[in-house]
Amino acid sequence: MEKKKEVKSDLPKEYKKGSVKFLGCKIDLSLRTFIPRPETGFWAEAAINELKSRPALAVLDLFSGSGCVGIAVLKKIKNSSVDFCDIELRAVRQIKKNLKINKIDKKRYRVYCSDIFEKLPEEKLYDAILANPPYVDPDRVSEVQATVFDHEPHVALFSKKNGMAAIEKFLAQAKKHLGKSGVMYMEFDGAQAGLVEAILKKEKYSSWRIFCDQFEQKRFVRIEI
Ligand SMILES: C[S@@+](CC[C@H](N)C(=O)[O-])C[C@H]1O[C@@H](n2cnc3c(N)ncnc32)[C@H](O)[C@@H]1O
Repeated sequence: MEKKKEVKSDLPKEYKKGSVKFLGCKIDLSLRTFIPRPETGFWAEAAINELKSRPALAVLDLFSGSGCVGIAVLKKIKNSSVDFCDIELRAVRQIKKNLKINKIDKKRYRVYCSDIFEKLPEEKLYDAILANPPYVDPDRVSEVQATVFDHEPHVALFSKKNGMAAIEKFLAQAKKHLGKSGVMYMEFDGAQAGLVEAILKKEKYSSWRIFCDQFEQKRFVRIEI
């Protein structure tokens, strides 16, 4: 996949600075993992507000990247533990670095390098799964900003099957990793809402609701099994 041009665009300001703030947490980006977006902060905050009253909480932050979502959970929900999972080794290193920076007790987390659920413990049931999968259609590469395309990891952006491959694989497997009153939050592109709902129907999830982000774009779905 290539965009034709002669000069590489400027490094994003977040990489130049080396870190960003995400829901009050410092997130280091020195290993150049995906830059956390405000839209993700919007739904992660909604999820945290819903989950913070639960007595104890086992969370899976799938497609973790920098670890921003799970670290915000650990910082804001006292009785929570989080499993992080990303396919990239650099993300695993970045997550561990960010857990240290945010002074999270080692007993409260595990970090997995895995293709979706492949290497996660089969028997473990989560109270919540929070997921921001790659969802950009490779055929729409021309719509991706040059700074994003040139500098952010492509594995974090693009997914085959019109951007739906990771979402499809995730939703086919997620059900059996969620406990009885468990919930999932998953981010997607507004244009994919119909396709996401078709998968949820096919996989027989019991209920779900699609929400807009702060920019009035359909952006995330809250799902119950
Ligand atoms: C859009 S980024 C999200 C990062 C972070 N959660 C956030 O919201 O800023 C997607 C992440 O999923 C990871 N990823 C892509 N395919 C994956 C797969 N099959 N299994 C696990 N992680 C994957 C990428 O390495 C990337 O870090």
